[in-house]
This record gives sequence, C-alpha cells and structure tokens, in this order.
Amino acid sequence: MKLAVVGGGSTYTPELIDGFARLRDVLPLEELVLIDPAADRLELVGGLARRIFAKQGHPGRVSWTDDVDTGVDGADAVLLQLRVGGQAARNMDETWPLECGCVGQETTGAGGLAKALRTVPVVLDIAERVRRRNPNAWIIDFTNPVGIVTRALLTAGHKAVGLCNVAIGFQRKFAKLLDVTPEEVALDHVGLNHLTWERGVRVGGEDVLPKLLSEHGDAIAADLHMPRSLVDRLGVVPSYYLRYFYQHDEVVRELKTKPSRAAQVAEMEKQLLEMYGDPALDEKPELLSKRGGAFYSEAAVALTSSLLRDTGDVQVVNTLNNGTLPFLPDDAVIEVPATVDARGTHPLPVPALEPLYSGLIANVTGYEHLALEAALKGGADRVFEALLAHPLIGQIEYAQKLTDDLIAHNREHLTWA
Ligand code: G6P
Ligand code: MN
Repeated sequence: MKLAVVGGGSTYTPELIDGFARLRDVLPLEELVLIDPAADRLELVGGLARRIFAKQGHPGRVSWTDDVDTGVDGADAVLLQLRVGGQAARNMDETWPLECGCVGQETTGAGGLAKALRTVPVVLDIAERVRRRNPNAWIIDFTNPVGIVTRALLTAGHKAVGLCNVAIGFQRKFAKLLDVTPEEVALDHVGLNHLTWERGVRVGGEDVLPKLLSEHGDAIAADLHMPRSLVDRLGVVPSYYLRYFYQHDEVVRELKTKPSRAAQVAEMEKQLLEMYGDPALDEKPELLSKRGGAFYSEAAVALTSSLLRDTGDVQVVNTLNNGTLPFLPDDAVIEVPATVDARGTHPLPVPALEPLYSGLIANVTGYEHLALEAALKGGADRVFEALLAHPLIGQIEYAQKLTDDLIAHNREHLTWA
C-alpha cells in the first residue's frame, strides 16, 4: 500500500506519522511519500518521520519530493493537507474582517472565503494530476475549508472524501467521560464541516446524551467556551465552531484583544521545526498537542483503511448530500456518519432536523455554493454575492468592504485579481 501526503512538510505531519506507526495493523503501509514545495521543511519533517518509523519498528519506506506528479505515482490514496500562503495568509484571514466587526477566522466568515479562493484552484490542479497518474486512487481532503474544497473535488468528478477531526474529537472525549472505549461510542453528528451538532451519543444502541449532559454538562460546555445553559436548552452539543455564530460579537471583542491564532501557531511552528532538526528526536513532541489537530491521524488511518480495505464500518465524513438532508440540494457536501467501503461513502439516514439547525445549515450551504462559484470563476461580484449570502455578514456595506479587503490582501494568490 502506498500513500502520498501533499503538504507533507507541514509541522503537523509527525502526528500523522505517529498514527501510521501505532496503527500499522489497521493500515499496513509499504510506502509513504511526503510532497511539499518547501524543501527545507521536507528535510526536517521527513527525517523525523523516518526516525519515528524506525523507533516503532515500522517497515514502511519514507521518501519526499517537491514534485507532485512523481510523488503521487502509484499511490493508492493521496492525503491533501496543504495551506496556500502558509500561516502568513492565515494571519490575514484572521485580522482584516475584524475591522468590520466581523469574525476573523480561517474557515468561518470572510476569512474562510479568502482561504477557499486561494485553495480551490490549487487543490483541483493537484487532483487532476493524481487522476492522470492513478485514476483509481482515493483523495482524502483535510485541506480547509473542507466543505467547500470537497465540494469542488466532487463536482469535478474526483474520487474524494473530506475529513475533519471534530467528530473523532467528540467521540474520544465522550468515551473518556463515559468510561468506555471510543469504538463503543457512535455519534449522531450532523451538519456541514465546522457547522455541526451532536444530537445523540449512542453506546450499545442506547442514547446516553441526556445522561452525559446531566453528569458532565459543565465540563462539556467549558470545553466549547459556551454557556452550560445553552447546551442544556438545546439538549445537543454544538461544535466549538458554532461559537462564531451563537456568540459572534463576543468572539469579535475577544479576538481584537489578543494575537491571532496564526501568530501563535507560527511561533509554535518555529520551535517545532527546531526540534525536528534534532537527530535524537524520534517521537512526536508534546508541543504538537497544543495544535487543534488532535486525533487527525486516527481519523485519517481509519478512513484510508476502510476505503482501501473495504471494511464497511461507519465514520463521520464530508460527502455528497444526495437526499440525506432533504432540504439541501443533492450536490451539497454535508458532514455526517456514513458507511465506508471500497466504493466510497454512503451516508446513514438522518432523522428530520429541527428548524433551529436546518435553517442555519441551509443558509451556509447557499453561501458555500456561491463561495465555490467565486473560487472557480473569480470576480469581485461573485465574492460580494458569497459574502452577502453569509449569515454572519449579510449587509451590503460590510459585504462591499470585505470584498475589497479580501481582494486587496490576496491579490498574489488570485489569478483573476
Ligand atoms: C481543528 C479543525 C481543523 C483546523 C485546526 C486548527 O482541528 O478541525 O480543521 O485546521 O483545528 O488548528 P490550529 O492549531 O492550526 O489552530
Ligand atoms: Mn476541521
């Protein structure tokens, strides 16, 4: 089995490598290729990857290259985890929207749109190269904004699945609180990427969410930085990304008082790269746990294994709606539990959604449709429309200013601007 990771020079990669090494029975890798345009990072991350494999007795070969075409050659699956423009571009996404009193975030709101516009053309180009070399290879997309990027891939007819760690994070957290294994916990997870709710938590077929909320409501709410009263009233657990909607103005006030997440991450990345250069280091460093990507390697291993080994188990994925949520178009990309086998992902039926959730999901789906149009075709008018459609923006004055700012800050990444 051969796997290629595009964006393999990411400081996150040792997390992935650690997962491949620990879970080698689930995913028996023979060859792993890290692909990245940043040669200096590749050397450091690739070297550490080899040492982690060696220490854990993993027999797989690890190599690296800056050339996508040769790197993906013969791969059974290709993981996409790239970030166009790096943390510097993310830093912009997190700052200029704040001037309008709008949330500055890398996947939500105007910053998320900027990221989509920079990213979609690059990802589609890579996917096309993968398809030319290996028409049967699976593309697993971690690249944000995962909903829009996956929609771009699937609309272009690629064999792709989108993945995020929010669901697996909840599964692991709830398992700990309930004192059961993660495998025993099934989530009724529904929504769009970074816009999801846990409506049920099943252990042995029984919904234990009410019990979980009554016994651990404080801890769950504190983790989300949301009031316990909200979680109690809803009786469901929103993902922490819902905070950007439910407490938008408060979050904006907070963001204005502290350094951006991109700045914090850039600082961590500097330290991480220094550590990776130490030939004595042969495991993922503790500092990596301060990043948001907890369990992403486990999600990646599980999904890749199910696709390549035809297991038919259930995982939370980003995939085509195709009637699963009847109030959305078939070609929308949703994030729900699905059975996963060699043919792909097959969403489980979802019980009817209350308007409190379906309304916001439908609204953001409309925005994602327009965001993809803007990413594929370009033009200030399309950017404006997407922003006007976004529930956190929605007013002409803001949409116009944010359109101008988005284009001004991203000109070097937008071929049409
Ligand atoms: C979570 C999200 C990812 C996102 C990450 C950011 O894991 O699911 O989509 O990329 O957080 O973490 P960071 O450490 O870069 O802020
Ligand atoms: Mn995510």
